[in-house]
Amino acid sequence: MTHNTAPQQPPLYRLEEYRPTAYALPAVRLELDLRPAAARATAELDIVRRPGTRAGAPLVLDGDGLRLVSVALNGKALDHRAFHAAPERLEIINPPAEPFTLTIITELNPAANRALMGLYCSNGIFCTQCEAEGFRRITYFYDRPDVLSVYTVRLEADKAACPVLLANGNRQETGDLPGGRHFAVWHDPHPKPSYLFACVGGALEALEDSFTTQEGKKIELNIYVEPGKAARALYAMDSLKRAFAWDEAQFGRVYDLDIFNIVAVSDFNMGAMENKGLNIFNDKYVLADPQSATDSDYANIERVIAHEYFHNWTGNRITCRDWFQLCLKEGLTVYRDQEFSGDMRSRPVQRLIDTAFLTGTQFAEDAGPLAHPVRPRQYAEINNFYTATVYEKGAELVRMIATLLGEPAFKAAMTLYFDRHDGQACTIEDFIQCFADSSGRDFSQFMLWYEQAGTPLVTAAWAYDEAGGSLTVTLEQSLRPTAECRDKRPMPIPLRFGLVGPDGADMAYKTADKAVQGNVLLLTQAKQSFCFTGLSSRPAPSLLRGFSAPVRLVTGLTAKERLFLAVSDSDPVNRYQALRSLVTEALITAAAGKDSGAPALPPESAAIAAAVAQIAAEERLEPAFRAFCLSLPSEAELAEAQGSNVNPDRIFAARQSFLRLLATKGQTGFPVLRRHYRVKDTFSPIAAQAGRRAFANILAEYSLIAAGSPAIAAALYEKADNMTDRLAGLRLLLHYFPAAAATQQALADFETRFGDNALAMDKWFAAQATAAGPERLETIRQLTRHRLFSYDNPNRVRALIGSFAGQCPTGFHRPDGAAYRFLAAVILQIDRHNPQLAARLLGFMQGWRRLEPQRRGQMQAALQHIAAESALSRDVGDIVSRLLAPAA
Ligand code: BES
Ligand code: ZN
Repeated sequence: MTHNTAPQQPPLYRLEEYRPTAYALPAVRLELDLRPAAARATAELDIVRRPGTRAGAPLVLDGDGLRLVSVALNGKALDHRAFHAAPERLEIINPPAEPFTLTIITELNPAANRALMGLYCSNGIFCTQCEAEGFRRITYFYDRPDVLSVYTVRLEADKAACPVLLANGNRQETGDLPGGRHFAVWHDPHPKPSYLFACVGGALEALEDSFTTQEGKKIELNIYVEPGKAARALYAMDSLKRAFAWDEAQFGRVYDLDIFNIVAVSDFNMGAMENKGLNIFNDKYVLADPQSATDSDYANIERVIAHEYFHNWTGNRITCRDWFQLCLKEGLTVYRDQEFSGDMRSRPVQRLIDTAFLTGTQFAEDAGPLAHPVRPRQYAEINNFYTATVYEKGAELVRMIATLLGEPAFKAAMTLYFDRHDGQACTIEDFIQCFADSSGRDFSQFMLWYEQAGTPLVTAAWAYDEAGGSLTVTLEQSLRPTAECRDKRPMPIPLRFGLVGPDGADMAYKTADKAVQGNVLLLTQAKQSFCFTGLSSRPAPSLLRGFSAPVRLVTGLTAKERLFLAVSDSDPVNRYQALRSLVTEALITAAAGKDSGAPALPPESAAIAAAVAQIAAEERLEPAFRAFCLSLPSEAELAEAQGSNVNPDRIFAARQSFLRLLATKGQTGFPVLRRHYRVKDTFSPIAAQAGRRAFANILAEYSLIAAGSPAIAAALYEKADNMTDRLAGLRLLLHYFPAAAATQQALADFETRFGDNALAMDKWFAAQATAAGPERLETIRQLTRHRLFSYDNPNRVRALIGSFAGQCPTGFHRPDGAAYRFLAAVILQIDRHNPQLAARLLGFMQGWRRLEPQRRGQMQAALQHIAAESALSRDVGDIVSRLLAPAA
């Protein structure tokens, strides 16, 4: 065993090296003979030399671990001297100049495929996952998004084991075969890249429905689940129909096949996949019933169903030229699903949910060693670029364009995009050009948002001139240097704003500044001043309303002004931000203090707690919003805000102190509110009811802290008629009274109730993984031996290991480093069979440089231990080498 091996450098793919393929591949006929341990793929490819390619230029196709059985050209077996075959490549040395067909037969072992890429078996169901580069694990192909082909797929399988056979497009033919086998032929008329191919075979039950398009066409809708679970897909089906209707109404996008199928599987690396006409889902985002799914589960299902459906236009009809353009489909589709959720639920609350995720996850990524532009310029492993930056920041860039243009002009430009690029594989330039052409504006500076990594810091300084009634704000923007670019340029930053008067209403103002359009300030320079006149008194300025740009804002406002905005601003997002900044500052001050004992809260904490209590009692505000304001920043968020020398134990203690302070403040008021807002109607997943539950349950937490006994949590658990309340009770018990008899009872009861429901048991794993304290590690080790736990199932791993590493800072960050070493060992173990999952887990170590010296050294050692492993996957090797690379 060697200790000094630097992680090997895998080859890098570069954006500027993009070249089209030498040949086109207009049509594919694919036959899949499905057998668990010996499946066979017969691919007949129509190959056409592209105009610029010289006759006889070699044809080089991608493969990944393939076993070639035979290859034939125009139906004739190829002499072994005419090609080179390797597991990762097939080269036809001197192909004909005229169009020809290539027939390739490969042999596969789906039952042994634990990477969950390509063709695999999940709980007896054959399914595929091809994005980004999984198709090459099925057959040799141009496995890249700019090669579009029409697919005809013939599936054959045992009829008893696999009565259901599905693939993309429309069903053409089915029939029985000798030996108890049967077949189905599917044809997808829309040319598509290989990453959108999918097929499924298994014993599945369908929830059937239909949707009639605005053109009057009736589309058959099916959601396939394991037998007996169809009723749990009803909410997913309802969401699907609402997504169909929304895309017609909002973007004029109509579905384009006769049938839309969804299949839910229990082993899936991601959330879900948008394969043309055959979406495949992690069953976590399909199955729900009141007893076993929480309100957030319902909201997630609605969102993910919509997201994958929306890809039909933003991703499938218009796809990406190459994987550098990933945000073209993902950022845009996240923007669309966020808008959908806002329309289905509460717009302001949805915006808070989305910005919390952005600042909590994407800002952290942008601040650490994995920072990269929304459109990366190079990658070693594309799977590692399905990131918060590409997705969430990518969505924010689309949102900024919508803010800059206004809704009608934005929608008009989107229509131009759909018309101009339908059927094409596009770049970000193509997309942005549509906004430029449609609006007549110049977007060249805006392109920097796609190119520069890091979160811009915007600082504001205010000067009020009493005599002249004028207010001047000076804004400065800066961006830290990152590996891919040291010298950053200023970007266009739209800041929605209002000037709040003493009564809480926005004041009227005048300005001659062209960079102020309506209620949006457009900052384009490194430093820029804006002047407002006609003010009768000094306003409290509210900047970045609606979180109109993905920036960190230092408002330049005093604590007093922010306290005022927290209770007065008409913009809910900024009310929340004002409050949040105060709470965060107080907690960081306490956590970073030099005192050796318990962290002491600064004196202003009492006024902040009073503001929180005041918001909680404000009748006009939505309960969901009030719940948001009552929840303190997570320990991870606080660590991120502190930035350096982080001691998670002190953050935890500071947070506990503030919880107690607030609990005392609300001692009389909160129980009254809780009784009033408790849901009395029968359960419904609608947003209004979910908001009341969220509010009542966070009030329950404060009441429990004030009472100092587990009774409230135990009652919440026992009397619950839905999972949201039951889980809230269980979590409170575990987090505040881990050793109490009531807690052990609830844990046992939960296991009895839900022992046969893996998704519900994931909550049981996660709740135990997130209770505080260094001894959690032992609990985790024990739970890995639970009969329901498996390192092969990504949902189980995320529920137990992921929750521990991400949401149990006092356990994961034990000063002795034992939990880091545990995670490193788990990553190495998982990397042997599922590199994608292993690489995701490694992300929990991206903040190592922010820790105080002892923990930093421990985590660095754990990372070095991973890096020293000789047989790392490309996925893990790439992440670990970036984590350890010298800071920019
Ligand atoms: N195209 C992705 C799924 C995917 C991601 C496949 C990475 C292969 C590699 C899909 O559209 C997606 O983005 N899914 C998200 C959920 C979505 C609501 C953001 C996911 O799976 O997490
Ligand atoms: Zn997506």
